Amino acid sequence: MWGQSVSVRRLAAIITAALALGFGGVALAQGTPVPIDPELLEKIRKSNAECYSCHTEAAVQKPPRTDMDLTKLRTLLLEEADFKPSGHGRMECKTCHGASYAVFPHAEGARAKISPCEECHAAKVMKVETQYHASVHLKEKISKFTCQSCHDPHLFNIAAKLGSPKVIVAQDNGMCLDCHQSEERYRTMAPADKKRPDLERIHKWLPNARLHWTAVRCIDCHTPATKVLSHEVLNKDKAERNCVTCHSRESSLRTRLYRHLVAAEQEQMGFANSVILSNSYVIGATRNPVVDWTIIGLGLATAGGMLGHGALRIVLALLRRRGK
Ligand code: HEC
Ligand code: HEC
Ligand code: HEC
Ligand code: HEC
Ligand code: HEC
Ligand code: HEC
Ligand code: HEC
Repeated sequence: MWGQSVSVRRLAAIITAALALGFGGVALAQGTPVPIDPELLEKIRKSNAECYSCHTEAAVQKPPRTDMDLTKLRTLLLEEADFKPSGHGRMECKTCHGASYAVFPHAEGARAKISPCEECHAAKVMKVETQYHASVHLKEKISKFTCQSCHDPHLFNIAAKLGSPKVIVAQDNGMCLDCHQSEERYRTMAPADKKRPDLERIHKWLPNARLHWTAVRCIDCHTPATKVLSHEVLNKDKAERNCVTCHSRESSLRTRLYRHLVAAEQEQMGFANSVILSNSYVIGATRNPVVDWTIIGLGLATAGGMLGHGALRIVLALLRRRGK
């Protein structure tokens, strides 16, 4: 009986969540969050405070109980200040975590019962999954990869809400770097014989790669340039390496990293050039002549290299013919 009433409650919570999501989607598109009934908010706050009473730094410093494994708890902290501004920040922990965590010690097998993303985002998950099945991460069918491998459900925010390109870049690149720059984490996902590529070395062709990683996203080069963000991560043969794709007035970043800014500016002013000009370096719209010359120089060097190579071959061929 008890189990049944719990699952009915859980179902109700999911329906509420789904409704909120429906309205949430509309509201997000307009840039303002849906107001939530203050009474409901207070209920959520109280419920989440139970979890925060143990799962925060403050609680580890001053444990509310003596029978807790503090070493383990230290690795499981979530501060209210971090959770609240996230995409899920207005939800009750128990909506995803279920009733198994409402008691302490937490119930056996509670972890397996945490709601998967598709329980609430079925349509989105399906669309994402189709793209993501074509991505490099699934080519070896390592199905260990899940949405959570990249998205921390407690911290993630969509780009439209973050606004500032620097903040978006920091969040989104953090997802990739947390794994690609951690031997330990990478190993948990990689096939046994796979060596972790050295990101610095592999992006050497890109001047100042570190600066690029704070200004542009991995996915801006490693996914196809579609109107809406794609989850198809591309390998080295298909990734973007053409400087002008970004460093030009018709920068591909208009439909990628700056998409939300461009949309907002277009709505307000009917044009969107200042976003591009103020955020990324555009050849000709001179902000830094050194960069112009670097890019022009690299272009010339490539063209020069090709011409020189061609000329050398002609000369050699002539010499060979003469030798005969
Ligand atoms: C009385 C303190 C306390 C409260 C209250 C508490 N937890 Fe925990 N929780 C812990 C401790 C200690 C651990 C780690 C050791 C363990 O599992 O015994 C833990 C572990 C966890 C884990 C990881 C366990 C696993 O299966 O991997 C999750 C998830 C979790 N808690 C979620 C929650 C949520 C959600 C709430 C609120 C509904 C909550 N906890 C309330 C103390 C607490
Ligand atoms: C949208 C769903 C959702 C909400 C809301 C949510 N969580 Fe979680 N939580 C998850 C999922 C999914 C995991 C498992 C992540 C994984 O497997 O990497 C998780 C894992 C955890 C863990 C274990 C982390 C670890 O590294 O093992 C803790 C602790 C936790 N949640 C606490 C909370 C607390 C406290 C709240 C509310 C303030 C909360 N969660 C709200 C979905 C959610
Ligand atoms: C229990 C239901 C539930 C689960 C499970 C859940 N979400 Fe959500 N999610 C929501 C709700 C509700 C919102 C809208 C919150 C708001 O607008 O305040 C949301 C918002 C989001 C958003 C931002 C808004 C948007 O329109 O895209 C993203 C991204 C997201 N969820 C991804 C995930 C991922 C990834 C997982 C799995 C780790 C997950 N969700 C699991 C209910 C859920
Ligand atoms: C390889 C890493 C990775 C994996 C795996 C992944 N995502 Fe994402 N996802 C991202 C990045 C990066 C973004 C970009 C954030 C943005 O710009 O809003 C994103 C954005 C999103 C968005 C917001 C899209 C938008 O148009 O604003 C949703 C929703 C989402 N992911 C859901 C999922 C779901 C569901 C899964 C699992 C089926 C998943 N993701 C798996 C990296 C990943
Ligand atoms: C949880 C760990 C993890 C995360 C997060 C992750 N990756 Fe990976 N990535 C891997 C592993 C492991 C491989 C090797 C897969 C294989 O060979 O089967 C890989 C392969 C790749 C490859 C192909 C390179 C190769 O060696 O075959 C690219 C490109 C790539 N990832 C980019 C990204 C980007 C961009 C993101 C963020 C949106 C990201 N990854 C997030 C673990 C991760
Ligand atoms: C300016 C575009 C650009 C950016 C930004 C970028 N990459 Fe790359 N990446 C490339 C290109 C092009 C290659 C192929 C290089 C080669 O073949 O020499 C590559 C190669 C890789 C590889 C090896 C791929 C393989 O198939 O072996 C990985 C892994 C990778 N990138 C991950 C990342 C991660 C993680 C980030 C973000 C921190 C990132 N990249 C940012 C363009 C980019
Ligand atoms: C995916 C888009 C993208 C690609 C591809 C790209 N860049 Fe960039 N690049 C940027 C962004 C964004 C910045 C940061 C602009 C800023 O903050 O002023 C930047 C910055 C730079 C800077 C430093 C500018 C400064 O103000 O200090 C140089 C130099 C540069 N890029 C050269 C190149 C070259 C050469 C290539 C091709 C090999 C290239 N970039 C490819 C997006 C890109």
